[in-house]
Amino acid sequence: MAYVLALLASGRRKGYTASVLQAAIKGAESVQGVEVELVRLHKYKFGPCTSCFNCIRNDPHECTLPDDMGEEGALMAKVKRANGWILADPVHYWGPSAQCHLFFERCYPFLWSGDLEGMPFASICCASNQGMQRLANANLCKWAFTKGFRYIGGLPVHMAFIERARVEAENLGRKLAEAAIIDVRGRQKFPDQERYVDYLSKPWRVLEPYLENLTNGTMAYESSLIAEGFASFKRKEAIELLEKSRKYLEQTLEFYNNSKEEEACSMLAQASAMWTHATWKEFLEEDVIKTSVPDAYRPIAEE
Ligand SMILES: Cc1cc2nc3c(=O)[nH]c(=O)nc-3n(C[C@H](O)[C@H](O)[C@H](O)COP(=O)(O)O)c2cc1C
Repeated sequence: MAYVLALLASGRRKGYTASVLQAAIKGAESVQGVEVELVRLHKYKFGPCTSCFNCIRNDPHECTLPDDMGEEGALMAKVKRANGWILADPVHYWGPSAQCHLFFERCYPFLWSGDLEGMPFASICCASNQGMQRLANANLCKWAFTKGFRYIGGLPVHMAFIERARVEAENLGRKLAEAAIIDVRGRQKFPDQERYVDYLSKPWRVLEPYLENLTNGTMAYESSLIAEGFASFKRKEAIELLEKSRKYLEQTLEFYNNSKEEEACSMLAQASAMWTHATWKEFLEEDVIKTSVPDAYRPIAEE
């Protein structure tokens, strides 16, 4: 039996967000072999991540905070068991709500265990006032990307379109449940290169924002963080990784400038992995976290 978590991030139990989520639940429950549980995030007690980094250092990679999202937590137990999430969130200040942000933040241990990599995920973002539901939903898609989820679909909803949204939510719930059935047979990993390309068609694409950030807003290697790193990094291993990252970034930019997006994404995945490992060596390993990168986190492909 596949287990789907329908997560409600709104504090209003019977509000708009809850009603659209109910439609998604109906769709998910129509798929045979699926159990759906509605979970209200506001019912549980959990605070922000305290950056203790125990979840990175310890193996198994668990959160040691004594609350509902810690290793013994009631909500954490459901999260771990799930074969897919449908997360429904009210739009707050043109983005995800604080409760939703908190929940994602506390899923940090899964970056290091890799246990949620490849898990199906769907989002619903509900606005009833000015809107910006599309921007909020793109933000949830971005977080799904960072967790390595398979983004099954997202529904930016404004109450002006509530009836249409309910129909679409039912379809989305069904699609998520079908993906959860595949997941329960054995979760498929979602390696970086595949994921970077896959998200090209999602509400949040990694290609432009990542390149923009890595090149310090210029889309050129010369002003990039990597070029800057050569001038300031001190550790030998970090500089060796920078060299690899430079090579991949130059190839990424060449593909990008020739409108070859898939090839650019594939190279960017490599450039960003090398950059991530370089910064870990330079800043984190000895001074902050005091451990090497856990195996599941952005493994570097053999060259
Ligand atoms: C702190 C806060 C910020 C909000 N910001 C927005 C916003 O940016 N855009 C919008 O359309 N609605 C905004 N709203 C209204 C919610 O999106 C609205 O409550 C929405 O319909 C969610 O449904 P629910 O509260 O019935 O679950 C905000 C509400 C709160 C409490």
